[in-house]
Amino acid sequence: MKTFGREKYQKHLKKYYDQKSAVYSATYTGEGRYPTGFHRLQIALAMVDAIRPKPKKVLDAGCGDARMVIELQKRGISCTGFDISTGMLDTGKELLREAKLPENLIMEGDMYNIPAKKNSLDLLLSMGVLENLDRHDELFKEFRRVLNSKGRILISLENKLFSLFTFNQHTIRFLQRLFKDIKIPAKIRADVLRAIGSWLHLEDIEQVERIIEDRQIQKNHIAIPEYDRLNVDGELRKFGFATERLRFYHVHPLPPRFEKKYPELFRGFAERLETSEYDWHSTLLCNCMLVQAVKM
Ligand SMILES: C[S@@+](CC[C@H](N)C(=O)[O-])C[C@H]1O[C@@H](n2cnc3c(N)ncnc32)[C@H](O)[C@@H]1O
Repeated sequence: MKTFGREKYQKHLKKYYDQKSAVYSATYTGEGRYPTGFHRLQIALAMVDAIRPKPKKVLDAGCGDARMVIELQKRGISCTGFDISTGMLDTGKELLREAKLPENLIMEGDMYNIPAKKNSLDLLLSMGVLENLDRHDELFKEFRRVLNSKGRILISLENKLFSLFTFNQHTIRFLQRLFKDIKIPAKIRADVLRAIGSWLHLEDIEQVERIIEDRQIQKNHIAIPEYDRLNVDGELRKFGFATERLRFYHVHPLPPRFEKKYPELFRGFAERLETSEYDWHSTLLCNCMLVQAVKM
C-alpha cells in the first residue's frame, strides 16, 4: 500500500479517466446495459430543481464530460465545472460545442485545491468522484471553503450496506470491517469469515462484467472512507454538513451474480424502483446514493 503512494494513485486515476473518457459515455447511453450515469443525472437534476432558494452559482467538481454543466445551463442555472482529466475535459468541450455553450465553462482543476473563491458558491456538485478518493476531511474542508454560509453539496457516495445483499467478496469485506469494529478476536474473525466464504461458494462466482471496469482503478492502494444509509448523516456532520435529502440509484432486484441469468429483470426492476424516494428496500438493494447536505 505504501509503495504505491497517494501521488502515484492520483496519476493512475487521471490516466485511467484520460483513457476511458469515450467508454465512460456508455454509462449515459447504456449500450445494452444499465445506464448508471444517466439515472444519476436525472435524479440529481430533480434534486437541484427542488432546492429553495434556487441556487444561482453552481460548481460541478470532477465534472467529467460536462453532462451536468450542460443540463443546468439549459435550465438557466449558472454552472461551471472542473476536472483533473484532460481526456474527460476534451470530450466535455465537444459536448459543450454541440450544445452551443462556451467551452470555457469547464476547466482543469483538482478536488483538493478547488479552483473557486472562498464563500463564492450556492451549490457544489460532485458525482462519481468521492467514491475514488481518500482524505475526505480535506475534500469537505475545501467544500466548506468555497460554499457560502447556507451553501449545499449534492454528492454521490457508495452505500456499503448493499454489500450485505451481494453475497460475494464485498459481503466478506463488510463483515470483516464490522467484526473488527466490534473487536471480535482476530482468530475467531478469520474462522467465521472462512466459514461464510465457503457457504457462499465464493470461488464459483463469475464476476459480472461492467462497462466501466472499476476494478482497474486500484482503490486498494488508498483508504477510502466508507458510508452507508445508516452512518452517512453522522459522518457528514463530522465534516460540517447536515444531510437534507437522500436518494438511491442502481437498484439490484437480486444479488449481482444473477445479472447474467436475468438481465431484463435487472434493467426493468432497477428503473421502476428508482422513481420512489426513501424506499427502505433501497437501503439494501442499492450500491449508490445521492446525498444533499447543507453547510452547518
Ligand atoms: C466517474 S467520473 C464522473 C464524472 C462526472 N461527474 C459525471 O457525473 O459524469 C469521475 C471523475 O472524477 C474526476 N476526478 C478524479 N479525481 C479528481 C481530482 N482529484 N480532481 C478533479 N477531478 C477528479 C475524473 O477525472 C473523472 O472525470
